[in-house]
Amino acid sequence: MTITIITLFPEYFKKPLSLSIVGRAFAQPEHTLKIVDLRQFGIGTHQRVDDTPYGGGAGMVMMVEPIEKALRSIGVAKNQEKSSILLTSAKGERYTQKTAREYAGLEYLTIICGHYEGVDERVAEHLVDQEVRIGDFVLSGGEAAALSIVDSVMRLQEGVLGNPESLNQESHDTSGFLAAPQYTKPETYNNWSVPKVLLSGNHGKIAEWRIKSSSD
Ligand SMILES: C[S@@+](CC[C@H](N)C(=O)[O-])C[C@H]1O[C@@H](n2cnc3c(N)ncnc32)[C@H](O)[C@@H]1O
Repeated sequence: MTITIITLFPEYFKKPLSLSIVGRAFAQPEHTLKIVDLRQFGIGTHQRVDDTPYGGGAGMVMMVEPIEKALRSIGVAKNQEKSSILLTSAKGERYTQKTAREYAGLEYLTIICGHYEGVDERVAEHLVDQEVRIGDFVLSGGEAAALSIVDSVMRLQEGVLGNPESLNQESHDTSGFLAAPQYTKPETYNNWSVPKVLLSGNHGKIAEWRIKSSSD
């Protein structure tokens, strides 16, 4: 899978996406991460990427032209098979585990990070497949949203997790499902004890307890 992030802050991604599970995923030859600096496609000598909003109002709005040029340079467009272009947006569709599973099956995922007051609406209307929000709150930029999306998609790729069983019965696999609580050694700490059933060795009873303790 190739993931491309279009951003004004390429530095933002270097460390987090090189670490742990996601870092290991991108070290595999079948996965590629590309970070595209939107500023390169800015207009004029100052490489402008934003301007004042029509109709007035606070802040600056990211322009269509640099984003369209960035997409063209990557060679992606909306409505292509096995490819999706996302615009991060506080007013987009809610991103869920179901969405992560859908994106995990793509060959190309392109994520545009908004900034300032937002992005000229014509980007959402004409250039992207989906506008997504990662929660009901406002971030200062789409970079933190892109990180979450990349992490949640890459851990679903085959061979990325040490034990693929980790992907069975995870929280949010179905709407409202939350995985059962987990415990590890020691059995008792500060008088806080692990539920006895987990120490019983009775796999049937443990499975029953886990089903009862997960929420749906
Ligand atoms: C300060 S926000 C703009 C908020 C916008 N004025 C509004 O009220 O909806 C700047 C950028 O951060 C990103 N962003 C903010 N909240 C987000 C969220 N919940 N999910 C995904 N991206 C978000 C988007 O790319 C957005 O263009």
